Amino acid sequence: MIHVAQGDASDISAVMSIMKDAFDPRFGEAWTAAQCLSTLVLPDCQLLLAKDADEVCGFAMTRWVLDHEELLMIGVARHAQRQSIGNRLIMEMISRARNAGRTKIFLEVRDGNNAHDFYIRCGFNPIGRRKNYYKNADGLSPDAITMNLIL
Ligand SMILES: CC(C)(COP(=O)(O)OP(=O)(O)OC[C@H]1O[C@@H](n2cnc3c(N)ncnc32)[C@H](O)[C@@H]1OP(=O)(O)O)[C@@H](O)C(=O)NCCC(=O)NCCS
Repeated sequence: MIHVAQGDASDISAVMSIMKDAFDPRFGEAWTAAQCLSTLVLPDCQLLLAKDADEVCGFAMTRWVLDHEELLMIGVARHAQRQSIGNRLIMEMISRARNAGRTKIFLEVRDGNNAHDFYIRCGFNPIGRRKNYYKNADGLSPDAITMNLIL
């Protein structure tokens, strides 16, 4: 049975296992352990872990900025995808943000990433585009689509 719990910097090895498994290296979107740790030590950042018993199968990292929450990263282990685990992480994020008085959630997603459809399904709306925001390993520079969800 899947449950979502708060994590912290001590969960970095589980987060990195999912990161390496879930993200396609062609797109250079995965963060390094150093990037994750420097984010997780900040007081306005939060790590949510989806666990199947004690095994971490997904994570989400968020940051509180003024009146809104930003989704920085979300990943679900490949073998556990399309089982509503990503959705559970987003719903927990929404619930916590609402309880904390935030008014919106923001995120950015690479144009062409299937996660765009996932975010739409979770209730996010596209609100803008950043031209050539990402740098792929193959030299291409896809746009970022910015999305929000009003709480
Ligand atoms: C995006 C991601 C977190 C979704 O997690 P998930 O647990 O597989 O998603 P869910 O099972 O909760 O999906 C909910 C709905 O979103 C949509 N969806 C999810 N993955 C999708 C995909 N690959 N293509 C199209 N729609 C998708 C579907 O409508 C799905 O419902 P359905 O399975 O009943 O059709 C996961 O695919 C992932 O880790 N991707 C790689 C990392 C990444 O790109 N993260 C986002 C950028 S930070």
